[in-house]
Amino acid sequence: MIRSRIAGIGKYLPEQVVTNNDLLQYMDTSDEWIQERTGIKERRFAHRTNETTTTMGVEAARIAIERAGITPQDIDFIIFATLSPDYYFPGCGVLLQRAMKMKEIGALDVRNQCSGFVYALSVADQFIRTGTYKNILVVGSEKHSFGLDFTTRGRNVSVIFGDGAGAVVLQPTTDEQAGILSTHLHSDGESAEILAMYNPGTHANFWKEERYADFNEAPIGQMFMSHEMIDNAQLFPYMDGPAVFKKAVVKFPEVIMEALTKNGLTAQDLNLLIPHQANLRIAQFVQQKLGLRDDQVYNNIQYYGNTTAASVPIALCEAWEKGLVKEHELVCLAAFGSGFTWASALLRW
Ligand code: ACO
Repeated sequence: MIRSRIAGIGKYLPEQVVTNNDLLQYMDTSDEWIQERTGIKERRFAHRTNETTTTMGVEAARIAIERAGITPQDIDFIIFATLSPDYYFPGCGVLLQRAMKMKEIGALDVRNQCSGFVYALSVADQFIRTGTYKNILVVGSEKHSFGLDFTTRGRNVSVIFGDGAGAVVLQPTTDEQAGILSTHLHSDGESAEILAMYNPGTHANFWKEERYADFNEAPIGQMFMSHEMIDNAQLFPYMDGPAVFKKAVVKFPEVIMEALTKNGLTAQDLNLLIPHQANLRIAQFVQQKLGLRDDQVYNNIQYYGNTTAASVPIALCEAWEKGLVKEHELVCLAAFGSGFTWASALLRW
């Protein structure tokens, strides 16, 4: 039986470290508040002009490709997950293909926010299992620092996020003790607007909300973005934090158990759980609910913040670099985020 396995993994974190205290110059917050609510001590911010979501993805990809023992020319499909693309369109996949001088291969962008990498991995897994491709590059990368509200008004969102990238190369294997065992994908669009960035977009005040009333006055063809949106801070993400928290602590354990049950395994069989680094309190809640020991869960949100689509590959890469993931060990990747969408992947390294 052919399965897909991670043959190479890489990560890239920008140099600039931004501590909680560094944020005090922009907003009314405190190190104590941020650490207590989220676990975050510091995060990385990309260089303002020299680094983009794509360039960070390229750096992570170079390492993953080298560790897989191949070259960029050997890659035959790209899947790039991000919510902070260089351009509204085209996506980052083609920009990475160009930057890495790859062949004229397929490049797919995935827009599933926090669960983007796990969704992307599941797509790559299907292409490998069916024998369509032999070397798939899966990237998660985010440059959040470019588009958040770093004033007291936006502090409930902006203190959480950081920049960075992670990448893996997926290859086929016939080793029965290795590879992705199964992936599990879910969504519930009922709460799509409680963790979202509405603008720029084509909704054109679909909800008849007062704050978007100016859409009705906008000239035809210019309803996508307006001066009012800038003036009224409507170009920033919106998050109802408590509502996200409540749903996340239910769906995270559910989708992890779904993967374990499907494979006749239990939480005790897990060598390592890599949860999307949304919030340390969410990860601790999940750990407790599943009865996992500290050494069975890997967290690094303390140092990088929430890097959305990049968080799972960054954490997996770091855990592997520290020797915490060994051959044939059981690893579960799980994510929950905007949409809502949530997903898991169970694999043997
Ligand atoms: N510094 C200081 N005070 C703040 C800050 C800040 N950065 N942000 C909010 N506050 C204040 C609020 O104004 C509010 O003050 P008030 O009581 O005077 O009105 C108070 O703190 C409580 O605000 P809440 O939003 O209710 O704070 P909460 O305890 O829920 O914590 C948080 C906010 C951390 C966002 C929490 O809701 C959470 O973790 N939610 C999960 C969402 C999440 O993890 N999102 C990550 C992205 S999505 C994903 O990856 C899954």
